[in-house]
Amino acid sequence: MCARDGDGQDQDQATETETVTEAETGAETDTGAETVTDTGTGTGTDTGTGTGTDTDRGTAPDAATETGRPAGPPFSLEVGSREHYQDPALYDFEYRRRRVDVNFYRALASEVGAEPILELGCGTGRLLIPLVRDGRRVVGVDRSVPMLEVARARLARTGRRARQAQLVRADFCALGLRARFQLVLCPFNTLQHVYAQADMAALLASVRSMLAPGGRFAFDLMNPDLSWLGRDPRKRWARTRFHHPETGEELIYSTNHVYDRVSQINYIHIFYESADTGRVREVRLAHRMYFPAELVALLELGGFRVVERLGDFGWGPLCSDSEQQIIIAAPRSAAP
Ligand SMILES: C[S@@+](CC[C@H](N)C(=O)[O-])C[C@H]1O[C@@H](n2cnc3c(N)ncnc32)[C@H](O)[C@@H]1O
Repeated sequence: MCARDGDGQDQDQATETETVTEAETGAETDTGAETVTDTGTGTGTDTGTGTGTDTDRGTAPDAATETGRPAGPPFSLEVGSREHYQDPALYDFEYRRRRVDVNFYRALASEVGAEPILELGCGTGRLLIPLVRDGRRVVGVDRSVPMLEVARARLARTGRRARQAQLVRADFCALGLRARFQLVLCPFNTLQHVYAQADMAALLASVRSMLAPGGRFAFDLMNPDLSWLGRDPRKRWARTRFHHPETGEELIYSTNHVYDRVSQINYIHIFYESADTGRVREVRLAHRMYFPAELVALLELGGFRVVERLGDFGWGPLCSDSEQQIIIAAPRSAAP
């Protein structure tokens, strides 16, 4: 029974693709020391959405309807895949204690040595920078300018190692890099921003085309928890006080969500209330929930076979109460 736990990439790789919207070299260097913000109280859980924190300390109804079932989607998917990544300092602060996944992917990456790695949705470089420091050659793709700016600044601070990485601004659902990678990574629920089946099919086809012989595609996403998904959207959950890492403003974090059982999209609201003025800033985040059997079917349809299916970053098996699904997949035609 599982317990619930809570250099080398050529610049023209980016420009060879028809679909890359903007390429960045990410290779300038400087000597500034990296500052890791690590003060104050966490603003939720390291799952990014409060899934692991079940403290119902706030019961104030919010903007959801009486029934908690609004007639249409509460906000657009475009907003739900962008807004959470507009404040990278806050993002890094919220997930500063999340290390277990980074260590898992570092271990996977150590198996490919100097072979190139692709990270889809690299964000601020939470994983990419440790990989570069480990000596890996990494291409990181993300479409968020604020997140990439932070990643680029951090990369520059790795000194000469910065040449091992390249940052590309692009939509990973429409990626056509000509390079081949031994390992393609998509960590931390990032695939949950792929909302439509056609986009998932396109992404899987693209990953297949970019995998070198014997290559692997590894990613993690949430294991849908029906009781969590169904919790009362009129309440505010996981209330936590903290200070904004840049402005120092004292804020009260809380969250709730509305889950649409047809589209399987979870519409998450994250509230940041000023402890001083009471003003609330709302950040919206949409996650497509992929059920385990559905995910395996989609991978198979996309020409992959599942090599490993895990429920935690300690290589435990996927169980009913696992919080995560961690998948290592290979193209079906590849030798076992
Ligand atoms: C949860 S964050 C993960 C960031 C980083 N991998 C980490 O583990 O901290 C998801 C990232 O995926 C990016 N993203 C979401 N959808 C994307 C898409 N279709 N194409 C490129 N990047 C995308 C977001 O901008 C964000 O930086």
